[in-house]
Amino acid sequence: MRPEIKGSTVLVTGGAGFIGSHLVDRLLDMEAKEVVIIDNLFLGSEDNLREAISRGAILYRDDAEFSTSLEYIFERHSIDIVFNCATKALNYSFMNPSNSFETNTKVVLNLLELQRKKVFSTLCHFSTSEVYGTAVYEPMDEKHPRNPTTLYAAGKAAADLAVETYVRMYDLDAFIIRPFNNYGPRQNHKGELAGVIPLTVYRVLNDIPLEIHGDGNQSRDFIYVTDTVEAILAVYGKLEKGESVNISTHNQVCIKEVIETIADAMGYQGEILRKPARGSDVYCHNASNDKLMGMISYNLTPFSEGLKKSIDWYVEVIKG
Ligand SMILES: NC(=O)c1ccc[n+]([C@@H]2O[C@H](COP(=O)([O-])OP(=O)(O)OC[C@H]3O[C@@H](n4cnc5c(N)ncnc54)[C@H](O)[C@@H]3O)[C@@H](O)[C@H]2O)c1
Repeated sequence: MRPEIKGSTVLVTGGAGFIGSHLVDRLLDMEAKEVVIIDNLFLGSEDNLREAISRGAILYRDDAEFSTSLEYIFERHSIDIVFNCATKALNYSFMNPSNSFETNTKVVLNLLELQRKKVFSTLCHFSTSEVYGTAVYEPMDEKHPRNPTTLYAAGKAAADLAVETYVRMYDLDAFIIRPFNNYGPRQNHKGELAGVIPLTVYRVLNDIPLEIHGDGNQSRDFIYVTDTVEAILAVYGKLEKGESVNISTHNQVCIKEVIETIADAMGYQGEILRKPARGSDVYCHNASNDKLMGMISYNLTPFSEGLKKSIDWYVEVIKG
């Protein structure tokens, strides 16, 4: 039997990041006994957890790629459930492909080894739509071939295989959730690793010209971050061991439209520069959420509403 969230001790790797910190908030709402976070603050921040820490969440600023860093946390806390969110943003794989791959594989292998030794009960592993690569058929369901185009995605695809194989070999209670493109408050807006929405808001506020790579028609299935978290917690008790599920909206928005909508909403009058397409950019991400919809019912935030909430949040945070 999979332990319920309520009353369990839960570890969130990468819990100071974008999705992880929203997950931490919800785990506290659901009365988890203890919520523990390991995050090396590569991209995450303590600010994302300010409220959670005031509610009792415990943050270890440490690196989950080292098995010993995880081991001492497991010695100090009797952990039942792990949500594995730790990763380094996709764009980092264009700078340091090897370490991007390593982070995505080492952390999960460390966790699977601990689980194999029965140190904890249940693993919810975060995959990504990036493992599918550009669509071979649409919409992409969970059976779509995995065809990574970056070392980030290759590491994620390898991690999926590791989870599935450990389940087959050792009957572990591990399963995979596969989010598509998330947006919303707390996504990183600084530097080269920023997501397209926060980056665009940042540029408008700082009078930096906006940029579109390629023709701008590359599309993504954008899902509001708290919708993702709700869906994950709703399928938590339903997915079989070794199973995976897309977390998506079945809706596509192209990057050009996202950037132009933000520009309009913020009254941006400046230039929108055209940049060469990035070689490994996945062109089309049209997801099927049929499996998810067959398992749970969940309300999706309309893109226009989510985008407005996100812009408002970033304007407040960036202006300080
Ligand atoms: N954001 C999306 O659109 C999206 C889409 C699909 C899948 N995902 C997956 O969801 C998960 C969370 O993504 P996110 O968008 O919140 O990313 P994020 O970068 O905001 O969060 C990841 C966190 O992991 C931390 N981290 C990195 N390396 C670490 C290490 N070695 N040890 C401990 N912590 C480490 C970072 O500091 C960061 O806080 C990831 O597994 C990602 O692949 C995200």
